[in-house]
Amino acid sequence: MYDFDRIIERRGTCCSQWDYAENRFAEEGVLPFAVSDMDFACPGSVLDAIRRRLDHPVLGYTRWQNCYYRDAVADWWQKRFDLEVMPEDVVYTPGILATIAMLLDIWTEPGEGVIIQPPVYDSFHRLIAAHDRRVVENPLILENDWYSIDWRGLENIAASGQAGVLLLCSPHTPVGRVWSRAELDRLVDICHEYRLRLISDEAHLDLVYRDHRPVSLLAAAGHRPVGQQVAVISSAAKPFNLSGVNSAYAILPHAGLREEMTKRLRKYGVYAANALAMTAVVAAYRHGQPWLAAMLDYIEDNRRWLADYLASGTEGLSLMPAGATYLPWLDCRRLFAGWGYPPNRLIEATIGLARRLADDGKVVTRAGTAFGRGGQGFIRLNIACPRDKLRLAARRIREVAAAGRPV
Ligand SMILES: Cc1ncc(COP(=O)(O)O)c(C=O)c1O
Repeated sequence: MYDFDRIIERRGTCCSQWDYAENRFAEEGVLPFAVSDMDFACPGSVLDAIRRRLDHPVLGYTRWQNCYYRDAVADWWQKRFDLEVMPEDVVYTPGILATIAMLLDIWTEPGEGVIIQPPVYDSFHRLIAAHDRRVVENPLILENDWYSIDWRGLENIAASGQAGVLLLCSPHTPVGRVWSRAELDRLVDICHEYRLRLISDEAHLDLVYRDHRPVSLLAAAGHRPVGQQVAVISSAAKPFNLSGVNSAYAILPHAGLREEMTKRLRKYGVYAANALAMTAVVAAYRHGQPWLAAMLDYIEDNRRWLADYLASGTEGLSLMPAGATYLPWLDCRRLFAGWGYPPNRLIEATIGLARRLADDGKVVTRAGTAFGRGGQGFIRLNIACPRDKLRLAARRIREVAAAGRPV
């Protein structure tokens, strides 16, 4: 019914994934995996809705404060996460990062600390720094191939008053951890106790695998008097491949915070909705569920295929366990150890491997080091692509790994 094997030529659409890779390396045959979007066509129901919208020839200013948009978001959260979201709590925004920026503006002063837990989505670091806030790191703990939150570290930071906000990535990219209800409860408790604000970036929550349970921070925060301290941000971009339409939303259970957010949207002149984006999001949430289920099956198959391929003859490389996302975290630590790199030279080894994958293998990935502390030893891949592209890339990765340590 859905053809995820179909190869779609994306070059020539100014897309970051393919056109950027080709510009950068200025040659044919490069396989890009660096950008977090999919090579799949958007759901037909979404494309049809946009076409129908275009049957009306006027694309004037458009409002999002209506039940057409807000109910579609609230109903999606109800159906998908079994959560009651009040439609009036939904605030349309032009993007997740823009929303985080506005929340930092509302909740913090320049110079104030914002906690992140590396290795984490690389834009967090840049965004906080660009807003003259201070990055306060509470690195994830990696033990027995499993990432967890450093609770003691977090409590110490919270208690010291170094930071006013915790910016959570949930699920956590690039490591693919899905935070459990118990973990989120504990986070809310800590934030409540130390009056820390909590921003939960749930961009990838719709991309949780079948045998894991997606839990929003809203589930943990919903029944406690912490509404003014909590903001949940998400969008239809990751699950439905709509990153190019630039649209997201915040779910803000506290009226005062919604008002502040509205003020910021006006302050930056981004208060109106993008008409086509709104149409796309509503169509995705109203009609995209079967497509999303099929797409997730395809991604899980891709993941299994890649894990098996690596296990059968790619010495030293494997996928880290994960519960979500199409961005597997390739564990290269055994490869580097086999190449004789001591632990204190893993940064150099990781950057070097990413460069060789691009130069020799023509496979463009992201070095784990891009995601901050703890990213050394890993490469981030992207499996939201037709199996043929993945097969070709996996073969090239195997060849580069087999070629041995660069001299
Ligand atoms: C965790 C996370 N948050 C935010 C974004 C960016 O969202 P937006 O394009 O809506 O700013 C991404 C994109 O990769 C992401 O992975």
